[in-house]
Amino acid sequence: MGRRGQLVPWKSAGRITERQTSGDEVVKTTGWVFNNETGSTLTLEQFVATGDSEVPAYLTVFGLRDADTEQQSMIEIGCGIGRMTCAFTREYGSVVASDLDAGFLERCYETVGQFGKIDRLRTLHVADGRSLDLPPNSVDVAFSYITFQHCDPDDALELTSEAVRVTKPGGRIVLNYRSRSSIDVIVLPLGGLVRGLFRVPGLGGWLASRRFFARLGWQANRLSPDQIIGPLAPLLRDVEVWRNPKSKVTGYQASIKEFDGINKNHYWIVATPR
Ligand SMILES: C[S@@+](CC[C@H](N)C(=O)[O-])C[C@H]1O[C@@H](n2cnc3c(N)ncnc32)[C@H](O)[C@@H]1O
Repeated sequence: MGRRGQLVPWKSAGRITERQTSGDEVVKTTGWVFNNETGSTLTLEQFVATGDSEVPAYLTVFGLRDADTEQQSMIEIGCGIGRMTCAFTREYGSVVASDLDAGFLERCYETVGQFGKIDRLRTLHVADGRSLDLPPNSVDVAFSYITFQHCDPDDALELTSEAVRVTKPGGRIVLNYRSRSSIDVIVLPLGGLVRGLFRVPGLGGWLASRRFFARLGWQANRLSPDQIIGPLAPLLRDVEVWRNPKSKVTGYQASIKEFDGINKNHYWIVATPR
Protein backbone atom coordinates (compact mmCIF):
# COMPACT_ATOMS: atom_id res chain seq x y z
CA MET A 1 0.00 0.00 0.00
CA GLY A 2 1.31 3.45 -0.82
CA ARG A 3 1.98 5.86 2.03
CA ARG A 4 -1.20 7.84 1.47
CA GLY A 5 -1.13 11.06 3.48
CA GLN A 6 -4.55 10.78 5.07
CA LEU A 7 -3.61 7.39 6.57
CA VAL A 8 -0.45 8.63 8.29
CA PRO A 9 -1.85 10.24 11.48
CA TRP A 10 -3.81 7.10 12.33
CA LYS A 11 -0.82 4.85 11.87
CA SER A 12 1.35 7.22 13.92
CA ALA A 13 -1.23 7.27 16.71
CA GLY A 14 -1.49 3.48 16.38
CA ARG A 15 2.27 3.11 16.94
CA ILE A 16 2.09 5.39 20.00
CA THR A 17 -0.87 3.33 21.23
CA GLU A 18 1.15 0.12 20.93
CA ARG A 19 3.90 1.55 23.17
CA GLN A 20 1.58 2.34 26.11
CA THR A 21 1.30 -0.04 29.02
CA SER A 22 -2.37 0.49 29.84
CA GLY A 23 -5.63 1.71 28.34
CA ASP A 24 -5.49 4.75 30.66
CA GLU A 25 -2.11 5.68 29.19
CA VAL A 26 -3.48 5.26 25.67
CA VAL A 27 -6.30 7.68 26.45
CA LYS A 28 -3.84 10.19 27.93
CA THR A 29 -1.46 10.03 24.97
CA THR A 30 -3.81 9.55 22.00
CA GLY A 31 -7.36 10.08 23.33
CA TRP A 32 -7.54 13.36 21.40
CA VAL A 33 -7.31 11.34 18.18
CA PHE A 34 -10.73 9.83 18.76
CA ASN A 35 -12.77 12.36 20.64
CA ASN A 36 -11.76 15.98 20.83
CA GLU A 37 -13.65 16.52 24.05
CA THR A 38 -11.47 14.22 26.13
CA GLY A 39 -8.68 15.81 28.10
CA SER A 40 -5.20 14.61 28.93
CA THR A 41 -6.16 13.45 32.43
CA LEU A 42 -9.11 11.24 31.52
CA THR A 43 -9.15 7.51 32.20
CA LEU A 44 -10.22 4.80 29.78
CA GLU A 45 -13.36 4.32 31.87
CA GLN A 46 -14.32 8.00 31.48
CA PHE A 47 -13.44 7.84 27.78
CA VAL A 48 -15.75 4.83 27.29
CA ALA A 49 -18.46 6.63 29.27
CA THR A 50 -18.64 9.24 26.47
CA GLY A 51 -19.49 6.42 24.04
CA ASP A 52 -21.92 4.91 26.54
CA SER A 53 -23.99 8.09 26.45
CA GLU A 54 -23.71 8.70 22.68
CA VAL A 55 -24.54 5.22 21.39
CA PRO A 56 -28.02 4.84 22.98
CA ALA A 57 -28.86 8.43 22.00
CA TYR A 58 -28.00 7.89 18.33
CA LEU A 59 -29.63 4.47 18.15
CA THR A 60 -32.82 5.84 19.68
CA VAL A 61 -32.97 8.95 17.48
CA PHE A 62 -32.29 6.94 14.31
CA GLY A 63 -34.99 4.39 15.24
CA LEU A 64 -32.58 1.47 15.57
CA ARG A 65 -33.58 0.18 18.99
CA ASP A 66 -36.31 -2.41 19.00
CA ALA A 67 -37.24 -5.64 20.72
CA ASP A 68 -34.85 -7.78 18.67
CA THR A 69 -31.77 -5.50 18.59
CA GLU A 70 -29.92 -8.00 20.77
CA GLN A 71 -30.45 -10.66 18.10
CA GLN A 72 -28.93 -8.40 15.42
CA SER A 73 -25.41 -8.01 14.10
CA MET A 74 -23.57 -4.79 13.27
CA ILE A 75 -20.29 -3.48 11.92
CA GLU A 76 -18.64 -0.34 13.27
CA ILE A 77 -16.37 1.20 10.63
CA GLY A 78 -13.54 3.16 12.29
CA CYS A 79 -13.89 1.83 15.86
CA GLY A 80 -10.59 3.28 17.14
CA ILE A 81 -9.80 1.93 20.62
CA GLY A 82 -13.43 1.03 21.33
CA ARG A 83 -14.90 4.24 22.76
CA MET A 84 -18.33 3.39 21.32
CA THR A 85 -17.75 -0.34 20.71
CA CYS A 86 -18.34 -1.28 24.35
CA ALA A 87 -21.85 0.16 24.20
CA PHE A 88 -22.49 -1.55 20.84
CA THR A 89 -21.67 -4.94 22.39
CA ARG A 90 -24.34 -4.30 25.02
CA GLU A 91 -26.92 -3.44 22.35
CA TYR A 92 -26.17 -5.98 19.56
CA GLY A 93 -25.74 -9.75 19.70
CA SER A 94 -22.65 -9.60 17.49
CA VAL A 95 -20.36 -6.70 16.66
CA VAL A 96 -17.60 -6.45 14.06
CA ALA A 97 -15.25 -3.63 15.08
CA SER A 98 -13.20 -2.52 12.07
CA ASP A 99 -10.39 -0.01 11.71
CA LEU A 100 -7.50 0.96 9.49
CA ASP A 101 -5.01 0.54 12.31
CA ALA A 102 -4.32 -2.91 13.74
CA GLY A 103 -2.89 -1.43 16.97
CA PHE A 104 -6.21 0.32 17.65
CA LEU A 105 -8.03 -2.96 17.06
CA GLU A 106 -5.94 -4.69 19.73
CA ARG A 107 -6.73 -1.90 22.18
CA CYS A 108 -10.39 -2.02 21.15
CA TYR A 109 -10.47 -5.70 22.05
CA GLU A 110 -8.97 -4.97 25.48
CA THR A 111 -11.34 -2.04 26.07
CA VAL A 112 -14.38 -4.17 25.28
CA GLY A 113 -12.94 -6.91 27.52
CA GLN A 114 -12.98 -4.42 30.40
CA PHE A 115 -16.16 -2.45 29.74
CA GLY A 116 -18.27 -4.35 27.20
CA LYS A 117 -19.36 -7.88 26.25
CA ILE A 118 -16.27 -9.43 24.73
CA ASP A 119 -18.00 -12.65 23.63
CA ARG A 120 -20.00 -10.58 21.13
CA LEU A 121 -16.96 -8.94 19.51
CA ARG A 122 -14.75 -9.71 16.55
CA THR A 123 -12.32 -7.30 14.97
CA LEU A 124 -11.66 -6.67 11.28
CA HIS A 125 -8.62 -4.92 9.86
CA VAL A 126 -9.41 -2.49 7.02
CA ALA A 127 -5.88 -2.92 5.71
CA ASP A 128 -6.30 -0.91 2.49
CA GLY A 129 -8.48 1.80 4.06
CA ARG A 130 -11.35 1.09 1.67
CA SER A 131 -12.64 -2.49 1.66
CA LEU A 132 -14.42 -4.63 4.24
CA ASP A 133 -13.42 -8.28 4.20
CA LEU A 134 -16.95 -9.55 4.89
CA PRO A 135 -19.42 -11.43 2.67
CA PRO A 136 -22.36 -9.55 1.16
CA ASN A 137 -25.52 -9.24 3.30
CA SER A 138 -23.75 -10.25 6.51
CA VAL A 139 -24.82 -7.62 9.08
CA ASP A 140 -28.07 -5.90 10.06
CA VAL A 141 -26.51 -2.49 10.67
CA ALA A 142 -23.41 -0.69 9.39
CA PHE A 143 -22.42 2.26 11.60
CA SER A 144 -19.61 4.77 11.29
CA TYR A 145 -18.85 7.90 13.31
CA ILE A 146 -16.23 10.61 12.62
CA THR A 147 -14.34 8.36 10.22
CA PHE A 148 -15.39 8.97 6.61
CA GLN A 149 -14.52 12.69 6.84
CA HIS A 150 -10.89 11.66 7.41
CA CYS A 151 -10.67 9.41 4.36
CA ASP A 152 -9.52 10.25 0.88
CA PRO A 153 -12.79 11.01 -1.01
CA ASP A 154 -12.50 7.86 -3.13
CA ASP A 155 -11.94 5.74 0.00
CA ALA A 156 -14.93 7.35 1.73
CA LEU A 157 -17.15 6.57 -1.29
CA GLU A 158 -15.78 3.04 -1.54
CA LEU A 159 -16.29 2.37 2.19
CA THR A 160 -19.86 3.69 1.89
CA SER A 161 -20.50 1.31 -0.97
CA GLU A 162 -18.93 -1.49 1.09
CA ALA A 163 -21.26 -0.64 3.99
CA VAL A 164 -24.22 -1.08 1.62
CA ARG A 165 -22.79 -4.33 0.23
CA VAL A 166 -22.27 -6.00 3.64
CA THR A 167 -25.63 -4.88 5.09
CA LYS A 168 -28.59 -7.21 4.62
CA PRO A 169 -31.52 -6.03 2.51
CA GLY A 170 -33.94 -4.42 4.97
CA GLY A 171 -31.10 -3.56 7.40
CA ARG A 172 -29.80 -0.04 8.02
CA ILE A 173 -26.68 1.92 7.16
CA VAL A 174 -25.95 4.75 9.62
CA LEU A 175 -22.96 6.74 8.42
CA ASN A 176 -21.55 10.07 9.56
CA TYR A 177 -19.87 12.65 7.28
CA ARG A 178 -18.68 16.24 7.54
CA SER A 179 -20.33 19.02 5.56
CA ARG A 180 -18.62 22.00 3.96
CA SER A 181 -18.30 25.18 6.07
CA SER A 182 -16.81 28.63 5.43
CA ILE A 183 -13.55 27.86 7.27
CA ASP A 184 -12.87 25.06 4.77
CA VAL A 185 -11.53 27.67 2.34
CA ILE A 186 -8.47 27.75 4.60
CA VAL A 187 -8.60 24.36 6.30
CA LEU A 188 -8.80 22.13 3.22
CA PRO A 189 -5.77 23.55 1.33
CA LEU A 190 -3.74 23.62 4.58
CA GLY A 191 -4.81 20.03 5.26
CA GLY A 192 -3.58 19.01 1.80
CA LEU A 193 -0.26 20.75 2.45
CA VAL A 194 0.18 19.00 5.81
CA ARG A 195 -0.69 15.62 4.23
CA GLY A 196 2.06 16.28 1.70
CA LEU A 197 4.49 16.93 4.59
CA PHE A 198 3.39 13.69 6.28
CA ARG A 199 5.20 11.90 3.46
CA VAL A 200 8.55 13.50 4.26
CA PRO A 201 10.69 10.86 6.01
CA GLY A 202 11.48 11.84 9.59
CA LEU A 203 9.25 14.93 9.58
CA GLY A 204 6.02 13.07 8.69
CA GLY A 205 5.73 10.89 11.77
CA TRP A 206 6.61 13.81 14.06
CA LEU A 207 3.98 16.09 12.49
CA ALA A 208 1.34 13.36 12.49
CA SER A 209 1.70 12.80 16.23
CA ARG A 210 1.21 16.53 17.01
CA ARG A 211 -2.41 17.33 17.67
CA PHE A 212 -2.51 20.60 15.71
CA PHE A 213 -0.91 19.20 12.54
CA ALA A 214 -2.71 15.86 12.71
CA ARG A 215 -6.07 17.61 13.00
CA LEU A 216 -5.27 19.76 9.98
CA GLY A 217 -3.91 16.84 7.96
CA TRP A 218 -6.87 14.55 8.42
CA GLN A 219 -9.30 17.11 6.95
CA ALA A 220 -9.40 15.00 3.80
CA ASN A 221 -12.83 15.49 2.22
CA ARG A 222 -16.15 17.29 2.33
CA LEU A 223 -18.48 15.07 0.33
CA SER A 224 -22.07 16.22 -0.16
CA PRO A 225 -25.00 13.86 0.49
CA ASP A 226 -25.70 13.80 -3.26
CA GLN A 227 -22.14 12.71 -4.07
CA ILE A 228 -22.57 9.83 -1.63
CA ILE A 229 -26.17 8.81 -2.29
CA GLY A 230 -26.13 9.41 -6.06
CA PRO A 231 -24.14 6.34 -7.19
CA LEU A 232 -25.90 4.13 -4.62
CA ALA A 233 -29.46 5.39 -5.11
CA PRO A 234 -30.71 2.26 -6.97
CA LEU A 235 -29.48 0.11 -4.06
CA LEU A 236 -31.16 2.12 -1.29
CA ARG A 237 -34.63 3.03 -0.04
CA ASP A 238 -35.92 5.23 2.81
CA VAL A 239 -32.90 7.53 2.59
CA GLU A 240 -32.68 10.08 5.40
CA VAL A 241 -30.17 12.90 5.85
CA TRP A 242 -29.89 13.80 9.54
CA ARG A 243 -28.48 17.21 10.44
CA ASN A 244 -28.28 19.79 13.23
CA PRO A 245 -31.21 22.28 13.08
CA LYS A 246 -28.63 25.03 12.29
CA SER A 247 -27.27 23.13 9.27
CA LYS A 248 -28.55 23.68 5.74
CA VAL A 249 -27.16 20.46 4.27
CA THR A 250 -29.64 18.67 2.05
CA GLY A 251 -29.86 15.64 -0.22
CA TYR A 252 -31.81 14.97 -3.42
CA GLN A 253 -34.76 12.63 -2.78
CA ALA A 254 -33.74 12.20 0.86
CA SER A 255 -35.96 13.00 3.86
CA ILE A 256 -34.34 15.69 5.94
CA LYS A 257 -34.39 15.00 9.68
CA GLU A 258 -33.00 17.09 12.50
CA PHE A 259 -31.51 16.35 15.92
CA ASP A 260 -29.76 19.00 17.95
CA GLY A 261 -27.29 16.43 19.31
CA ILE A 262 -25.61 16.34 15.88
CA ASN A 263 -22.53 18.53 15.46
CA LYS A 264 -23.54 21.41 13.16
CA ASN A 265 -20.72 20.53 10.76
CA HIS A 266 -21.69 16.85 10.58
CA TYR A 267 -24.51 14.99 8.90
CA TRP A 268 -25.62 11.37 8.85
CA ILE A 269 -26.96 9.26 6.03
CA VAL A 270 -29.39 6.66 7.33
CA ALA A 271 -30.83 4.32 4.70
CA THR A 272 -32.05 0.80 4.00
CA PRO A 273 -30.33 -1.42 1.41
CA ARG A 274 -32.86 -2.95 -1.00
C1 LIG B 1 -11.80 10.22 14.96
S1 LIG B 1 -11.52 8.46 15.11
C2 LIG B 1 -13.14 7.96 15.63
C3 LIG B 1 -13.16 6.61 16.32
C4 LIG B 1 -14.53 6.18 16.86
N1 LIG B 1 -15.53 6.17 15.83
C5 LIG B 1 -14.95 7.08 18.01
O1 LIG B 1 -15.89 7.87 17.83
O2 LIG B 1 -14.31 6.99 19.05
C6 LIG B 1 -11.43 7.87 13.43
C7 LIG B 1 -11.07 6.39 13.34
O3 LIG B 1 -11.21 6.01 11.98
C8 LIG B 1 -10.10 5.19 11.62
N2 LIG B 1 -9.93 5.33 10.17
C9 LIG B 1 -9.44 6.40 9.49
N3 LIG B 1 -9.44 6.15 8.17
C10 LIG B 1 -9.98 4.90 8.03
C11 LIG B 1 -10.23 4.08 6.89
N4 LIG B 1 -9.96 4.49 5.66
N5 LIG B 1 -10.78 2.86 7.10
C12 LIG B 1 -11.08 2.43 8.37
N6 LIG B 1 -10.84 3.17 9.47
C13 LIG B 1 -10.29 4.39 9.30
C14 LIG B 1 -8.94 5.73 12.43
O4 LIG B 1 -7.88 4.79 12.54
C15 LIG B 1 -9.63 6.07 13.73
O5 LIG B 1 -9.62 4.98 14.61
